[in-house]
Amino acid sequence: MADMLELVGRELRQLEATQTFKIEVPLGSAQDAVVRVNGRKVVMLASNNYLGLSNHPEVRSAAIRGIREYGYGVASVRFICGTQDIHLKLEKKIAKFLGMEDAILFSSCWAANEAFFASLTNEKMGMEAYRDVIYSDRLNHASIIDGQRLCRAETCDRKIYRHGDVDDLVRQLEEDRGKDYRLRIIATDGVFSMEGDLAPLDSLAGVAREFGATLFVDDSHGVGVCGRGGRGTPEAKGVHGRIDVLTGTLGKAIGGAAGGYISGRKDLVSFMRQKARTYIFSNSLPPSIVFGATSAFNLLTRDRSIVARLRRNTAYFRKEIATLGYAILAGDHPIVPIMLGEAAAAQEMSRELLKAGVYIRGLWFPVVPKGEARLRAQISAALSLKDIDRALGAFEKVGRRMNVR
Ligand SMILES: Cc1ncc(COP(=O)(O)O)c(C=O)c1O
Repeated sequence: MADMLELVGRELRQLEATQTFKIEVPLGSAQDAVVRVNGRKVVMLASNNYLGLSNHPEVRSAAIRGIREYGYGVASVRFICGTQDIHLKLEKKIAKFLGMEDAILFSSCWAANEAFFASLTNEKMGMEAYRDVIYSDRLNHASIIDGQRLCRAETCDRKIYRHGDVDDLVRQLEEDRGKDYRLRIIATDGVFSMEGDLAPLDSLAGVAREFGATLFVDDSHGVGVCGRGGRGTPEAKGVHGRIDVLTGTLGKAIGGAAGGYISGRKDLVSFMRQKARTYIFSNSLPPSIVFGATSAFNLLTRDRSIVARLRRNTAYFRKEIATLGYAILAGDHPIVPIMLGEAAAAQEMSRELLKAGVYIRGLWFPVVPKGEARLRAQISAALSLKDIDRALGAFEKVGRRMNVR
């Protein structure tokens, strides 16, 4: 028998020794372009507040109206008495925005992803003997990985294909062509959060059709961000409305509070309402969030300039940081990985940048491969060019001092 506290203490000391202990820096303000840390104002380059809606006056007042009109909480799961008409309206709005038939809300995208795979693959659906298979991109988000871990090994094979590598996926699908699988599911992020690169959804949609597979895309970092209308990675890749299953979060570009969804064909969504355990056994979204997310979608569809501003800011930051001599991963997403190599450099640089007025986080092994430690900048439409210039000035100063460029 081991002592529980002794075990966790040992693990904590190990995290500290390997410099992988995660430190939370408390913000003394709302999430925005500029935030307050230890009483000082710093430029925020680390949040998923891509559209700057986290503290947008219209979204804030919508959320307050939600509380006034529908109360603070729903105190129930959806099928008991937790469905208000506003939940149904938001689901319709999400489906329409994404060009899909229907959508179902969850308390988070984590809950949506966790629900999706197990609900489908663990159900017999009238078949006594069956076997499903999931092909998953190697860099998929933890919620997709954990969702698949809930699929029973007796009835579901789980395979990994190389990141973004359609040929590797096709090779595996070819290998399995003769196998009598009930469902074949291809699972990918729309945008990969460590690299900021987009999945080749156009090719994947073709491959899924060719092999009779279901294409699942988690577009948490794409919705509101990618495509001219901010409709996500499918729009950017020319396959808007042609993905079988799209999940996403309301906790990043779409107001940044909380909530997630699965969207797809009507029957699939109805099936999830019956079978998804994180939906059936978990409280429904509070009215403030439903109102806030609704107003975020309204803003996004009404005012095209928000996405355009995000694009302008991203292009400006990418160009200028490269001009300063920093190595960045190419692309056009507001996630801009600034490659530094060693973990110690990323750790020191994020500390020094904070002192110089920029909030940015470093990523290192095991989150990214050894020797590929980086700072991950995330650009927002809320940033003014002056904010970005201030951040670039700090990069120049700290970079010169540390001699890292
Ligand atoms: C790709 C991806 N999927 C899902 C999630 C989880 O979203 P939520 O915060 O709504 O649970 C995240 C959040 O980090 C994400 O990056």
